[in-house]
Amino acid sequence: METTSLPWLLVLTSLLSCTTNQASLTVSPSSSQLFEGESVSLSCEEDDSSAGWTLRRNTTRETRTQCGSDWGKSAGSSCNMSYIDPLDSGVYWCESREGATSNTISITVTGGPVILQSPVLPVMEGHDVTLHCKTETPPSNLPAGFYKDGSLIRTEPTGHMTIHHVNKSDEGLYKCDIRGRGESPSSWISVTVKPTTTALPTPPPPSPQPQWCQLTGNDLPISMVMTLPSQAEDGLNDDCDDVTALTTKHNF
Ligand SMILES: *[C@@H]1O[C@H](CO)[C@@H](O)[C@H](O)[C@H]1NC(C)=O
Ligand SMILES: *[C@@H]1O[C@H](CO)[C@@H](O)[C@H](O)[C@H]1NC(C)=O
Repeated sequence: METTSLPWLLVLTSLLSCTTNQASLTVSPSSSQLFEGESVSLSCEEDDSSAGWTLRRNTTRETRTQCGSDWGKSAGSSCNMSYIDPLDSGVYWCESREGATSNTISITVTGGPVILQSPVLPVMEGHDVTLHCKTETPPSNLPAGFYKDGSLIRTEPTGHMTIHHVNKSDEGLYKCDIRGRGESPSSWISVTVKPTTTALPTPPPPSPQPQWCQLTGNDLPISMVMTLPSQAEDGLNDDCDDVTALTTKHNF
């Protein structure tokens, strides 16, 4: 049973990936916060373009509105916005005709002077993440304070903060401020735990199989259970012969 479950798992996995439409959404520039007036390109990377993926968003004013008809400029599986403003803040995703959805990306557009450049996608546990507290006008490397869940965690002289080997406890709501300039909006940073699919469990070594040696001596059936390593089958007959010899000896 143990040895047959692995091939079946592989078959099942490939069946699932063949029949499930998947898409992932990316954004360029890759930041969850953006300044008003920037241009942004959202891209839907899909397995199956015939599934009819569209880019949609929820903002404070609208829900499930579609790129091309309600906002932005549709270009194949991408969507461009040429001059974003705070009302473009919201949650974006790709959706297929059948209703399958991609990951979501949260974007905050500010009319203010400071943004926190943070990853749009969840950060993988164990990786490093760098946050950049940035002003709209140069210089872009001013000293900045970084806050997590409302508390100042670090002050960095050049406005960059690196968190090494992130773990689940680094997850939270981050913002930053630059003295004399202002404060950024807040963004949630999420951490995903390492996928286990990269290290499939190796099946346990085959356990020694009990082998039955049926011996008949003097018309009396004698059964013996012998435990043999599965690769020592060559020795089976010898062992059985030995048992026969032993049994025979015993009967006389
Ligand atoms: C978008 O808004 C609709 C209606 O409120 C809600 O059902 C849906 O979950 C929202 N989608 C996302 C990705 O937040
Ligand atoms: C969308 O933006 C990308 C990147 O800025 C650009 O290369 C592409 O030509 C734009 N497409 C349209 C239809 O505006």
